[in-house]
Amino acid sequence: MLSLQKILLLHVLACLGRLAHGSDIIHGTKAPENSMHYMASVQNNMGQHVCGGFLITEDFVVSAAHCNDSTPTHVVLGNHNLKNSNHQKIKIKNKNIRKNYQNIGQGNDIMLLELLYKVQLNERVQTIQLPPAEIHLEENQVCQVAGWGKTETDVKSVDELRVVDVSVINLRVCEELWHGLPANVICAGGYKTTKGFCQGDSGGPLLCDGLAVGVVSFNYKENCSYPNKPNVYTDISKYRQWIDGIVKSRKYEE
Ligand SMILES: *[C@@H]1O[C@H](CO)[C@@H](O)[C@H](O)[C@H]1NC(C)=O
Ligand SMILES: *[C@@H]1O[C@H](CO)[C@@H](O)[C@H](O)[C@H]1NC(C)=O
Repeated sequence: MLSLQKILLLHVLACLGRLAHGSDIIHGTKAPENSMHYMASVQNNMGQHVCGGFLITEDFVVSAAHCNDSTPTHVVLGNHNLKNSNHQKIKIKNKNIRKNYQNIGQGNDIMLLELLYKVQLNERVQTIQLPPAEIHLEENQVCQVAGWGKTETDVKSVDELRVVDVSVINLRVCEELWHGLPANVICAGGYKTTKGFCQGDSGGPLLCDGLAVGVVSFNYKENCSYPNKPNVYTDISKYRQWIDGIVKSRKYEE
């Protein structure tokens, strides 16, 4: 098992002031306005961005289980720039966390947020598809990670959504580099590069072939530009049944 001290909790509030000299989402660019309309900013009751997330149905957002530590209460949809106010801000009705989630070092770092009511889907708010229960990612396949997390050490989370390309890393190589990893993870980015995620990006998606295949979970120590250990994501395909079960039971209630 990984010791927690070695792991960076990527939600913003718990980590302020203890950050490393990272420089880039690390080395990314602004997400184009006409893209990524499934991105959600998960916020606390003070309206602060604490984590990323992504809309998978009109009333469910996927995020990371460790984001619950920042007591999220709302999600904001339909805005790349969090300073703009023409978004849909919706209260979280239920936080579904895997029963066996304990901390990020032990995996299952996934949370399914049920919204109080259905969002209005439009050209600015859309859902993203999840992978099937079986997927095969190629080593070195280029994917993307997006978020409002820090772009540099000692900088606040950003207002404008950013995105960066990251390459999938062989899981066995990743396990060796980390000296062991929890089950059901994907490694991409951060290794041999300084491209990857940082504080505030937690809960956001790893996007491959137009599917949200991973959830931003953790990286090494408190260093967003540390190039020796890959960034680690929760492998959504392994939770497909769990997600479908919750979404379905919600639908039957209506
Ligand atoms: C982060 O990692 C880089 C690369 O190894 C290193 O140069 C830098 O000093 C580290 N920063 C901190 C604060 O540990
Ligand atoms: C989520 O956070 C709330 C408030 O801090 C806490 O009461 C609750 O037990 C947490 N849920 C899980 C499953 O850890």
